[in-house]
Amino acid sequence: MQVIAFVSGKGGVGKTTLAVNVAVALAQRKMRVLLIDLDPQNAQRLHLGMNPDEIAGLTREGIADTSIFESPFGIKFIPFGRVSEAELEDFEAELKLHPNWVTDGIDSLTPGCFDFIILDTPPGPTVFLHQALLAAHRALVVVLADAASYATIPTITSLIEQYTAGRSDFFGMNLLINQMPIHSKLGHQVRSALYANYAELLVPIAVHKDPRVSQALGFERPVLQYEPGCKASLDIQSVADWLLDSIEQ
Ligand SMILES: Nc1ncnc2c1ncn2[C@@H]1O[C@H](COP(=O)(O)OP(=O)(O)OP(=O)(O)O)[C@@H](O)[C@H]1O
Ligand SMILES: [Mg+2]
Repeated sequence: MQVIAFVSGKGGVGKTTLAVNVAVALAQRKMRVLLIDLDPQNAQRLHLGMNPDEIAGLTREGIADTSIFESPFGIKFIPFGRVSEAELEDFEAELKLHPNWVTDGIDSLTPGCFDFIILDTPPGPTVFLHQALLAAHRALVVVLADAASYATIPTITSLIEQYTAGRSDFFGMNLLINQMPIHSKLGHQVRSALYANYAELLVPIAVHKDPRVSQALGFERPVLQYEPGCKASLDIQSVADWLLDSIEQ
């Protein structure tokens, strides 16, 4: 079983979108996948058509067999849960006291039920990122091909190194470019700079900017299900293939 954390230094780069859709692509390859939302925005459920009145999630029920929801898209998931500000503060305090809360929760799941557990995190250095990196075997850093996102890479990669130092079961991190513009000189220049400076970390596929992605969210479903043949869906399928290949190696 592999635990993969989707992380980023900058917000709004597409972590949640890619976590959900890579999970669906892996499920289409007969992998058993559990998505866990470690972001207080509780937004993952919006991609999965969950009842908007549902407040349940890991903040109240923990990470356990009994807190798992079934989606119609071939994957299972544990939402963050809807919480008040005071409840969130208490939860964060508990996580600070127990840095392995997420790891212990994952270890408590019935063994052998999942091939992949995918963790979605909020941007930047948070207690949720710390928890996710202590549990993960691999981190995918989502970046945009723009200067602002590029500038955050040194900070997020050194945080990952710091939180995973000395772990023989951490296989490494990769950078995944999202929202790659099809015709943009600047975008291509940033992509070239990424290849020049981070060649060994880069996932060899960039996910293109595609209006179908936000349309799919409007219909509360993964883009892979909404428009399987669109550019972004095909890119995401290639990312899933790359992931499986890289694990085999
Ligand atoms: N490849 C893409 N093409 C077009 N739009 C995209 C793409 N990926 C993500 N988006 C859009 O970008 C916005 C942000 O995506 P998302 O919520 O997945 O980012 P995030 O990194 O999880 O954000 P946060 O840091 O707030 O958690 C959404 O409106 C989403 O539809
Ligand atoms: Mg998100």
